[in-house]
This record gives sequence, structure tokens and C-alpha cells, in this order.
Amino acid sequence: MGEDGPRRLPEEGILSSRAERARGQLYGRRKGPKLRSAQADLLTSLLPALTVEPAQAHQPRTCFGVPVDDVWLEVGFGAGEHLYALAQTNPHVGLIGAEPFVNGVAKLLSKLKDDVDIQQRVRIHMGDARDILAALPGGSLSRVMVLFPDPWPKTRHHKRRFIQMAILDAIAAALRPGGQLRFASDNPQYVAWTLERVLAHDAFFWAARRKQDWSIRPADWPSSRYEAKALCGPPCYFVFERR
Ligand SMILES: C[S@@+](CC[C@H](N)C(=O)[O-])C[C@H]1O[C@@H](n2cnc3c(N)ncnc32)[C@H](O)[C@@H]1O
Repeated sequence: MGEDGPRRLPEEGILSSRAERARGQLYGRRKGPKLRSAQADLLTSLLPALTVEPAQAHQPRTCFGVPVDDVWLEVGFGAGEHLYALAQTNPHVGLIGAEPFVNGVAKLLSKLKDDVDIQQRVRIHMGDARDILAALPGGSLSRVMVLFPDPWPKTRHHKRRFIQMAILDAIAAALRPGGQLRFASDNPQYVAWTLERVLAHDAFFWAARRKQDWSIRPADWPSSRYEAKALCGPPCYFVFERR
């Protein structure tokens, strides 16, 4: 980041220190259809052991049940397909998932319930990812993933989009140099919004050179439920590097 910090875009009067106190809610509903009883049980039997409170994120590596080499954060994991697949294929990584939608958390718990090994390396914050980002020490993450975030298409709702310059500041602070911010969306307006902001932010570098670099999902990037839905257009996949 340069001496003057990242450039602000005009419509982002958000998250100044005053606004931060009265910060707006970014996400929509927290509850969906009534949970099946087995899912509801997991919220009381399994979730407490896997929960990471923001206060514990001050030492993120110690949150896990086993030593980990790297810590990754997934913002808004939905039903957890992507997070669970990453945990299966990256045994030395500790994964923190933040998701305020109770039904999504219950779905991830259903995937984790019989996998004691993976339970050691996954921690869940059933709430706003901003609280985890704010608590993490500088340079403590190797990867932050924001996949198919809610596009909030109406102009008056743009301030609820997760990608904002102030949140990019927080992501940049939490990532170590060389760490990655991975972003995907099928919404062309949100893609343009994100590129405009990330490329204006001094902390991030985008190495893509050809269309294939962003139009094809990398092999080490599992799919997610919203990718399968992709209602607005072909998904785009971005890997931004922390300088
Ligand atoms: C459109 S869904 C995508 C879910 C998943 N990433 C996927 O690709 O299938 C967006 C998710 O982000 C979550 N979300 C929205 N704002 C959030 C925030 N501030 N922190 C964490 N999760 C958030 C929502 O609850 C929702 O489940």
C-alpha cells in the first residue's frame, strides 16, 4: 500500500471509523427453512467444538486441534462444499470459514460430522467475516477466498457488497506477502466492481495475462454450490497476489 493508502472510490463512504461503529449488515437472511432435526442437533453437539470466536483469532494457528503450516479464510462458505474439499486435499492447512447463514453452517457440519481428522483443521465463525479479519494479526493468512458473494445488484445496495476498499485493506493486512485473495463471480457487474477496486489497491497484484487465466477454474480450486447455479453468466475466477 502506498503512503496515502489505497485510492477510495466515490461511492464508498463506508467503514470510516464512525461508520465502522454503526457498520451496515452486508449479508441477507441468517435463517432459511426449518432445519432437519439431525442438522439442528449438530448445531449444539458439534458446532461449539469447532467455533472460533474473533477473540481467538488473535493467534489463529492455535485455534486448530493439530499443528498447521498455513491458515486460510473462506468468506461466506455457503453450504461448505468448497471448504470441505479444500480441507480434504490440504492436510497441512487450517481453514477458518465465516458464514452467518445458519442453514449453511448446518450443511457444513453434516459433511464434517463423521470426519474427525478434518474436524481438527476446520474452524467456523457463524457470523460476519469482517469480525475475524479485524481480529487476525497482520500477515497471518496465506489465503482469503470470497466465492460467488451476494451481488446486491441494486445501486442502493452496492454498499452491502463484500468487496469494498476498506475490506480489501483488512484482507491485505491479514495476508502475508505472496498470499492470495481468490474471488469468483458469475455476475459481470460484480466482476467489474471487484476488478476496479482490487486493481486500484496497491497491496494486490493480478498476474493474469490471457483469458484462460480467469475464465477457467484452476485445478486446485474446488467447485461450490453457487458456481453450479451460475445464473448470471459464465463464472470468472481471480487469483490476486498480496505484494
Ligand atoms: C451467494 S452465497 C455463496 C456461497 C458459496 N460461497 C458458494 O459459492 O456456493 C454468499 C454467501 O455469503 C454469505 N455472506 C454474506 N456476507 C457475509 C459476511 N459479511 N461474512 C461472511 N459471510 C457472508 C451469505 O450468508 C451467503 O451464504
